[in-house]
Amino acid sequence: MIVNLKGRSLLTLKDFSKREILYLIEAALELKEHKAHGTLQKKLEGKNIALLFEKSSTRTRCAFVTAAVNEGAHTEYLGKNDIQLGGKESVEDTARVLGRMFDAIEFRGFKQKTVELLAEYSGVPVWNGLTDLYHPTQILADFMTVKEELGTLGNVKFAYVGDGRNNVANSLMIGAAKIGIDFRVVSPLSLFPDKNLVEECEVYAKESGARITVTDSIEEGIKDCDVIYTDIWASMGEEDKIPERISLLKPYKITMNMLKKTGKEDVIFLHCLPSFHNLQTGTAQKYPDICEVEDEVFEGRFSRVFDQAENRLWTIEAVMVATLI
Ligand code: CP
Ligand code: NVA
Repeated sequence: MIVNLKGRSLLTLKDFSKREILYLIEAALELKEHKAHGTLQKKLEGKNIALLFEKSSTRTRCAFVTAAVNEGAHTEYLGKNDIQLGGKESVEDTARVLGRMFDAIEFRGFKQKTVELLAEYSGVPVWNGLTDLYHPTQILADFMTVKEELGTLGNVKFAYVGDGRNNVANSLMIGAAKIGIDFRVVSPLSLFPDKNLVEECEVYAKESGARITVTDSIEEGIKDCDVIYTDIWASMGEEDKIPERISLLKPYKITMNMLKKTGKEDVIFLHCLPSFHNLQTGTAQKYPDICEVEDEVFEGRFSRVFDQAENRLWTIEAVMVATLI
């Protein structure tokens, strides 16, 4: 498949066609194979990449760094207290400076507008490493994992269960609508995705043959599903909403019983991570009901969450190579 993405930014999957999304997944699968055979090429030698992080990260940051090193590029990590952005300097000025020194910029933070301005003013490819609204690189890894597990992305029935209006849910719905799968958002009414985004996705779905369902009924939403996906109940920046979210989302916790109700014996469980699946972490100790998934599911035979986490590396590497050379 020949697709030319050179010079493009990845701000949201809305900007990418089905063909382009599938191309990036195929390219990521090939990179993973190359690594296994020791045949990775250093295609990004001499490239400098800025990594801007307003919010914390394990997978995304490490994937960008290891992907860049695999390809021979150099990265510079710029945390929120390391640069003038948001303090003494506007996004527009920071973007123009970084664009003179770096070949590409990754941004993780709050506002989608920031990543848009970085792309507009820097003149180099900008990659969205998560904003309040979207998390596009995550979805490439999610679909890659489904492809590895099920051998196809056609005829897949996929349910996202939990906070239906967060960045991961939004991007999954866009990606699913673009590539043409049967996608369900299963969440309480008050956490349904934004109506305008659902309408936009329905337009993509018409073209791709996707089916988009938004429901508060767990039974209806998960029936016959091949994939059950969830995320934490309160995203970064929403910590004050934790008690409210626990009461709303407790019935939507992923349990073995829920997986059985899909009716699929080989259903897979996915999660973007980080996850509260046990009570060891600080926040989970404070809120004992915060776990969005039972430990038995997370650690059990249906779970593919660490394959999915590894695939962040290969999909991000594919995006870097495709947009830079
Ligand atoms: N899934 C994900 O984006 O993880 P991090 O927040 O650790 O980067
Ligand atoms: N919805 C989560 C995703 C973390 C990868 C958040 O924004 O915190």
